[in-house]
Amino acid sequence: MSKKKHLNIGLVGYGLMGRTHSNAYRKVNNFFDVPFAPVLKAVCGRDAAKVKAFAENWGYESVESDWRKLIARKDIDAIDICTPNDSHAEIAIAAAKAGKIILCEKPLARTVEEGERMVEAVEAAGVVNTVWYNYRRVPAVTLAKNIIDSGRLGKIFHYRSCFLQDWTINADLPQGGTALWRLDVNAAGSGVTGDLLAHCIDTAMWLNGGISTVTAMTETFIKERKHQLTQKVEKVGIDDACAFLARFGNGSLAVFESTRYARGHKALYALEINGENGSIGWDLHDQHRLNFFDYKDESQLRGWRSIHVSDSDQPYMKNWWIPGTQIGYEHTFVHQVADFLAALGTGNSAAPTFKDALETQKVCDAVLSSAKSGQWTKTGVNWPAKSTRSAKS
Ligand SMILES: NC(=O)c1ccc[n+]([C@@H]2O[C@H](COP(=O)([O-])OP(=O)(O)OC[C@H]3O[C@@H](n4cnc5c(N)ncnc54)[C@H](O)[C@@H]3O)[C@@H](O)[C@H]2O)c1
Repeated sequence: MSKKKHLNIGLVGYGLMGRTHSNAYRKVNNFFDVPFAPVLKAVCGRDAAKVKAFAENWGYESVESDWRKLIARKDIDAIDICTPNDSHAEIAIAAAKAGKIILCEKPLARTVEEGERMVEAVEAAGVVNTVWYNYRRVPAVTLAKNIIDSGRLGKIFHYRSCFLQDWTINADLPQGGTALWRLDVNAAGSGVTGDLLAHCIDTAMWLNGGISTVTAMTETFIKERKHQLTQKVEKVGIDDACAFLARFGNGSLAVFESTRYARGHKALYALEINGENGSIGWDLHDQHRLNFFDYKDESQLRGWRSIHVSDSDQPYMKNWWIPGTQIGYEHTFVHQVADFLAALGTGNSAAPTFKDALETQKVCDAVLSSAKSGQWTKTGVNWPAKSTRSAKS
């Protein structure tokens, strides 16, 4: 048994993210020297048979069927929220009041109003918190951040980003229920804006600073779907596609696009940034490669280089295998847990905190508002967000 200080995890929700997080908690101490050892104390879900099977598969010590009971337990240190977006605020606020450490899936909330209440709750309680915007922790994306912060790109002119999928083109696909809650506006808050563009916005502001104004358009291509829970045909309230233009506080211009109607694309998250001395490009389908153009290279040899981010001096990679071998999607969650536990060792929250994620929420809300009004809209973003104050202990 590990001699490290134990951190007893209470996981809420055992779907896709419940699996990625459980895997990360199990692996983190094998690969990262961090001051805490996560203990899979309890998992909470409403279906008794399924939650028991999940607990057995991943090694959770116990199960709960009501998240309120999980939060009330004295033997739980941290609540990890892996439920659909409509429950993030209620669970997080209750967990903060109970003094629990909180890890919450993205988007922070369905609206800025919900997000503000969540930030208030964690700040009033002084609890450590984080939001799982895991793409920041793809080694190639972290390397992009290091290059940009070093000033090597010079003045930034452009940022462009997309997140393309094609899985909802079928009109027979219902809305609501496990996984399909994403198509139900009441559960999700919005469509691709909160689900996919939120990732693009979080990474964009992390790399290039605050977004100040936006102008957007959205479309709902399939207007009605059967609801999986009620079995009634109901109006679809989410945005199936969204495109927006933006201005960053540093004067650069941006184009963002997301859709679930780009036939042929499974999850093409891509970004490019252009500065006066260089450019960087990255995409999720080739996530271990960073494309980099340096205008200061000797002119005859100048060109885009494709950096295989797998060497031990590149972000996170010394903790894994040998140079030249790749890691993947699940490792981004291990990195997030590792950074979270390292920060916890100093009593701090690892970025992005609730406060950081609220700034992303402000951009999402401004995008949806602009799509309705047809007007350029101010986001009200404060960047960098003031970090959450240190925890009580
Ligand atoms: N970071 C990422 O890249 C990423 C990827 C996918 C999803 N997400 C986010 O993670 C969250 C969960 O998404 P998912 O894909 O895992 O969804 P999912 O549908 O696969 O799983 C959701 C789980 O929550 C459970 N649940 C719902 N209401 C509950 C309640 N009241 N009490 C207990 N359990 C409840 C469901 O039974 C299910 O097990 C969402 O906020 C989503 O936006 C993030």
